[in-house]
Amino acid sequence: MGQNLVLNLVAKGYGVSVYNIEDLITKKFIKERATGKKVKDTYSYQELVASLSQPRKVLLLVKAGEAVDLVIGSLLPYLEEGDIIIDGGNSHYADTDRRYKELKKRGIQFLGTGVSGGEFGALHGPAIMPGGDRNTYHRVEEILRAIAARTAEGPCVAYLGTGSAGHFVKMVHNGIEYAVMQLISEVYDLIRKALRISPDRISVIFKNWNQLQQSYLLEITHHILAQKDEETGQALIDLILDRAQQKGTGKWSAQEALELGVPLPTITAAVTARNLSALKQERLVVNSIWGGLREKVLKEQEVLGLLEDALYLSILIAYAEGMSLLRTASERYNYRLPLEQIALIWQGGCIIRAAFLQPIYQAYFTEPDLTNLILAAGFKKDFRDKSPRLRKVVMLAKEIGLFIPALSAALDYYDGLRSAELPANLIQAQRDYFGAHTYQRKDKKGSYHTDWPR
Ligand code: 6PG
Repeated sequence: MGQNLVLNLVAKGYGVSVYNIEDLITKKFIKERATGKKVKDTYSYQELVASLSQPRKVLLLVKAGEAVDLVIGSLLPYLEEGDIIIDGGNSHYADTDRRYKELKKRGIQFLGTGVSGGEFGALHGPAIMPGGDRNTYHRVEEILRAIAARTAEGPCVAYLGTGSAGHFVKMVHNGIEYAVMQLISEVYDLIRKALRISPDRISVIFKNWNQLQQSYLLEITHHILAQKDEETGQALIDLILDRAQQKGTGKWSAQEALELGVPLPTITAAVTARNLSALKQERLVVNSIWGGLREKVLKEQEVLGLLEDALYLSILIAYAEGMSLLRTASERYNYRLPLEQIALIWQGGCIIRAAFLQPIYQAYFTEPDLTNLILAAGFKKDFRDKSPRLRKVVMLAKEIGLFIPALSAALDYYDGLRSAELPANLIQAQRDYFGAHTYQRKDKKGSYHTDWPR
């Protein structure tokens, strides 16, 4: 990603100095991909910093965690007041807040900046989510706008807020990414196992569905499913081990949602599903005892249409969850996140780009105080028409015993939010029974405790 971002910067007319902890990587890059371009190779932090004009702008693309602190620590002796460090990795937002404060004390400006789009996006234009001081952002705005993806609305970058706002937004972007990937995978699994349709044909089905959804993740899935293994000629997907890995950003979203008391069931289910997939051995043992799916013949013509709508709506629900987490975090951490801008810059370059980010943008643009996307006027028809179809899909999958945690969670989120009455009254009564935790009443104000019969 680092190399591609450098090439992107150079293509836009900027000169770039590069440094990698492995000299060989730098040499190879200069000799091969950067040859003849405005790229200066450097072989120490001191040399890197000395090669930059002031105020210096240093962009880090380093694995999140300790490595970021090590690199910042190594740069610091050579940096001067007014210089800017941009962390373009997937750092945890709490680390970004800490670094922002520490660096500020030393006069160094810090922009925690989410960059999405993978290697391809880095080269051709990623979505960029910067946070930090607004003034600092303005000092690098031109560069970021130049390298960002573009849509009809302009470059996919916007100042998102103070401190760690940018990395918080990127974390939630990734939480939504996990959910969309899981939802597509569950629908794929249903088509594959219940309808017995081959990957080749599912690839075509997804391509057709994507005319409406315009989702990057659905598009890549269409390509993935059509891919044959060069050695065996089989569908490559059938040769890939079913254990999902993760670097942690989805988990952080789920943890943060618990911390802030925001329901995030679909995204959390997607993290849980990856964790469960990792238990391959255990799954094999349980399968050998309890068996797998129940046989049931489903009619292709009836079920495919349901699945298309179920996927559309459940993905929309995942976005609704993510946006509501952003909304609460914005208040709690004083980020003042521009939700409509976020929906706008996610329309290009990033992994979760999809057609309905445009109506999501419209929803926040017309109603900035919208509490949940489920309430947006623009989505009323989708929820009315597609929610019974999502329900049917969940029921079909449950009947045959298929693992569909994200589809179920999306439906639960919708059902929970539209429940005027929940059995939380019983929870309150139970808490009061065993712990005298008190409860509130519907018919009068105050806190009450009952001497329950023992
Ligand atoms: C992006 C991606 C990127 C990375 C994911 C992978 O927006 O470009 O989100 O940041 O590919 O973090 O995450 P996992 O390894 O956890 O799946």
